[in-house]
Amino acid sequence: MTSQIGRDDAAPVTGAADDRNGAEERLAGPDAAAVAAAVAANGSVNAMQTSGLNAWFGALHVLKDMSVSAKARAVTAIIGPSGCGKSTLIRCLNRLHEEVRGARLTGTVLFNGTDVYAPGTDPVEVRRRIGMVFQRPTPFPTMSVMDNTVAGLRLGAKLKRSEMHARGEEALRRAGLWDEVKDRLNHAGGRLSGGQQQRLCIARALAVQPEVLLMDEPASSLDPASTLRIEELIEKLKTEYTVVIVTHNMQQAMRVADETVFLLNGEVVEQGPTKKIFGQPTDKRTEDYVSGRFG
Ligand SMILES: Nc1ncnc2c1ncn2[C@@H]1O[C@H](COP(=O)(O)OP(=O)(O)O)[C@@H](O)[C@H]1O
Ligand SMILES: [Mg+2]
Repeated sequence: MTSQIGRDDAAPVTGAADDRNGAEERLAGPDAAAVAAAVAANGSVNAMQTSGLNAWFGALHVLKDMSVSAKARAVTAIIGPSGCGKSTLIRCLNRLHEEVRGARLTGTVLFNGTDVYAPGTDPVEVRRRIGMVFQRPTPFPTMSVMDNTVAGLRLGAKLKRSEMHARGEEALRRAGLWDEVKDRLNHAGGRLSGGQQQRLCIARALAVQPEVLLMDEPASSLDPASTLRIEELIEKLKTEYTVVIVTHNMQQAMRVADETVFLLNGEVVEQGPTKKIFGQPTDKRTEDYVSGRFG
């Protein structure tokens, strides 16, 4: 886990130097404008779509012919028993899967209609636009709150100190942490509470101005009050970002997700509106799972 975070943060943030004018300008880009228009016209559009996605760890075939989608500016929950492939699926969405030695995949992953695996596509840029928050909050413990927040900007972006600070403040505000930390931006990240540390990691992910936020069981190590804060935050974030959340907590999926995908043994059993998946699932296996009969 540390190495995943380390790699992400150490990677140069290509494109960030051209993108220093912040969210307004970025939202005016062609993809974001098209998405916003489609959301306004139809109520929804798929920001991410996989088809025929297969993934392996060595000889172990862990994702089988998966077709799933995530609507723009909505929350999609991925649920299913431990080991069914939830983490692997979201790691295929932003090209983290290929970083594991011996791991490979086939099939298509579209982001705003463009294949993220197309030849010539920069995986670092894919991971900037499709950010990830991991299960355990992993700020650099001795690095300050502000430096943690802007850690992803450091190497590539060459922003001025004042611009970095502005980007950091913006990210901390969006992560709902600013008011709690504004007077101790120089304190070590490791001194924050667990829930604050996780929001700090969310701020770090937001600072590089992604469009999609992938969250892998982001509240599973937190107490109920901190979990609630994260859920409230997700509700806010979905007005500007596409959110995909892995959760083993079905109540959480019901609370936060517009759409739910149920996985079993590396296959998609069913995807649909959350109310339908939990209320009138089509597949008997979904019904068994959501009623707590296994997993
Ligand atoms: N780095 C890895 N190397 C080998 N096998 C792995 C690795 N990570 C996960 N797996 C295996 O892939 C399958 C899916 O795992 P994962 O996507 O982590 O499931 P989930 O997140 O639903 O618990 C499991 O059988 C798991 O043991
Ligand atoms: Mg997992």
